[in-house]
Amino acid sequence: MRPRTVKQRRFLFFSAALLMALGIAAARIIRLPFFEVATPQRSDFTQQAIDLGARLSAIGNCETCHTVSISARFAGGRALQTPFGTIYSTNITPDRGTGIGAWSEDAFRRSLREGVARDGTHLYPAFPYDHFAKLTDADISALYAYIMTRQPLRAKRLGNDIMFPFNIRPLLAGWKLLYLSARPFQPDPARTAEWNRGGYLVEGLGHCGACHTPRTMLGVEIASDAFGGGEADGWHAPALNVKSPAPIPWDAQHLFVYLREGFDGLHGAPAGPMSEVVRNLSRVPAEDVRAIALYISTLAGPLPPDRKAQSEALLAKVMASPVLVRNETSASRGEEIYWGACSECHEPSSLGVPFALSTTFSQPTAYNVIRIILHGIRPPHGHAGPIMPSFSGSLTDAQIAELVNYLRSTFSSQPPWTNIDSEIARTRNEDGSPPSPSVVEK
Ligand code: HEC
Ligand code: HEC
Ligand code: HEC
Repeated sequence: MRPRTVKQRRFLFFSAALLMALGIAAARIIRLPFFEVATPQRSDFTQQAIDLGARLSAIGNCETCHTVSISARFAGGRALQTPFGTIYSTNITPDRGTGIGAWSEDAFRRSLREGVARDGTHLYPAFPYDHFAKLTDADISALYAYIMTRQPLRAKRLGNDIMFPFNIRPLLAGWKLLYLSARPFQPDPARTAEWNRGGYLVEGLGHCGACHTPRTMLGVEIASDAFGGGEADGWHAPALNVKSPAPIPWDAQHLFVYLREGFDGLHGAPAGPMSEVVRNLSRVPAEDVRAIALYISTLAGPLPPDRKAQSEALLAKVMASPVLVRNETSASRGEEIYWGACSECHEPSSLGVPFALSTTFSQPTAYNVIRIILHGIRPPHGHAGPIMPSFSGSLTDAQIAELVNYLRSTFSSQPPWTNIDSEIARTRNEDGSPPSPSVVEK
């Protein structure tokens, strides 16, 4: 039958295009399994490779994402919240039955570069292989040496809770076909070796953009707005490019101190998922952190003169009177709460950063300040670090809203936040406790 109407012809045209797309995708859907190999022994690797692997693993946050309790390192089971549902990290200890003990180095390399498990299953990009694809062969070998020499632990994979149709793994092949680039990091010959090292680490192993870059509805990082501010586990990861909301613009030196030591006098301390990133960076060679800081410091381009003038004026003001003057007669309710609940630790600013300098109050959303107030600040399970109490039991939703509005208007020059009430309700419902009990079978 020949298509007669325009409608029929169009239908046939689109069907053909669809079939062709499916055909191309099919070639990518079916990935062959790698054979099981004998679990490598420590003597199969040099100590040098294992040590390098340890440092790379820290920069890649491998342990952070694959660990729930420090008594079961790399055993997986950590829940990652995504717009498509909850995905659990897997056991990457060299246990043969439940971990990756039977994986060859080729299988391991394919998982990092292409997001395909040993048995050919497609993996979700919650595992940031779209960044790890940029790793060199040598770095992947070192990571393999390190991971395969950890203690094997038996811990079964937890079932994901992902909404239809995203729970159909073969669909990931189409996602990869469209969005996964296997291009290695392209060094810029006009830049220094240190900058290029920083770029390799930031774009690849460090996967900083996985949190700091906004994503499309399909979870794809928007390349044209790289480092324009993203979301991670309900937290806002602020922009690091020209859109950075930091009241005092970042430079390489302050970035280095923040990333290395976890506190910078002009910007404050990391909270939420960033505190784990920083804890990991405190364990890697300082030169790598310097290179990361240098690369990040150039994302925003040269500092515009008006931004420079504004930040200098703010700094002069804060230095001249670091202590807030209490408004005894006509204080708003939010201000009263501030003096009752917060000032003890945050005023005078001996403890942390003066609030006027903290990026927290200048961010586009109130996500982080609400999370800090409701969950407090606690170091990850089993680690030391600064502690701020949770106010979830002592402040009502209405009081938190008043406090948050007061903080925004006092410590930022940005317009008021919206949707504060719904965000407080949402945060109350989430579990803010650091990951705890282990899933390991003893
Ligand atoms: C942001 C969290 C995150 C980080 C960081 C991360 N992973 Fe994963 N990884 C996951 C998740 C989630 C999965 C499971 C994906 C799935 O089930 O589709 C996974 C799966 C894997 C797998 C496949 C295991 C299997 O049983 O199929 C390997 C291997 C792996 N990760 C190694 C690593 C290494 C090595 C690093 C560090 C360089 C790392 N991961 C960093 C979240 C992460
Ligand atoms: C798992 C998600 C995640 C990853 C990965 C991540 N960050 Fe962050 N980052 C955040 C969040 C969330 C914040 C906000 C923390 C806060 O409010 O204290 C943040 C804050 C920051 C800040 C402070 C910004 C400001 O103006 O206050 C810098 C700088 C930063 N990150 C750099 C990096 C670099 C460099 C990397 C890669 C090595 C990285 N981040 C990887 C989530 C992440
Ligand atoms: C018992 C002491 C204590 C109290 C009370 C307290 N905090 Fe904190 N707060 C801390 C510590 C410690 C930190 C981490 C160090 C830092 O960032 O200054 C912190 C950090 C913060 C940060 C992150 C600042 C940054 O960018 O580095 C915010 C925002 C914050 N607190 C808000 C509040 C608010 C709002 C209140 C009142 C409801 C409050 N805090 C009460 C101890 C406290």
